[in-house]
Amino acid sequence: MIAPSILSADFARLADELAAIAGADWVHVDVMDAHFVPNLTLGLPVVEALLKVTDIPMDCHLMIDDPDRWAVGYAEAGAHNVTVHAEAAGDPVKLAKDLKAAGAKAGLSIKPDTPLEPWLDVLKHYDTLLVMSVEPGFGGQSFMSEVLGKVRQARRLVDTGHLDLLVEIDGGINSDTIDLAAEAGVDCFVAGSAVYNADDPGKAISALRDRAAR
Ligand code: DX5
Ligand code: ZN
Repeated sequence: MIAPSILSADFARLADELAAIAGADWVHVDVMDAHFVPNLTLGLPVVEALLKVTDIPMDCHLMIDDPDRWAVGYAEAGAHNVTVHAEAAGDPVKLAKDLKAAGAKAGLSIKPDTPLEPWLDVLKHYDTLLVMSVEPGFGGQSFMSEVLGKVRQARRLVDTGHLDLLVEIDGGINSDTIDLAAEAGVDCFVAGSAVYNADDPGKAISALRDRAAR
């Protein structure tokens, strides 16, 4: 699956930018609060407006403090998948249950330096594990291949029935790095600059999908 990130889109033309990725599996929306990460993007009112103009399932990646307070609103608004950060969540098990009760899939994200082991029990309650392959906050950074060990570990746990979730990767994915991530066992690839900086975002999505499937 390919999930273009609108962080690299033209924020003055977001409806058109969604139309340009009609072939995407999910649209990835990066919510940043200038506290959990040193950048500020958009929040629930913009997400609600975007949900009205697209049928692409929305993957909301909340890079915010106190997701226990804010995340369920995105599920209630109609996001397909709501991902919170393990480093920020107070009660991630309750949060997963609340997100699912509100009708969304629940995602848990870990930053590049956050190990996987402490979260394995919590992840039994989640539908998605989002492994960050850059420090969260900005698009256009270089892929950190050192996180692939965590991807392989998660893949093994899913394939052996110990976890039941999609493995998603976010940061620095392009036609060069997607092979490495695919080989490690990623199910869903977020790509911001590789899609939106391309002349034809639709073609960029197809090219990434083809490479991941090889
Ligand atoms: C970074 C965001 C990413 C970002 C990826 O904090 O979570 O989703 O948009 O952008 P690229 O694909 O350009 O690394
Ligand atoms: Zn993201």
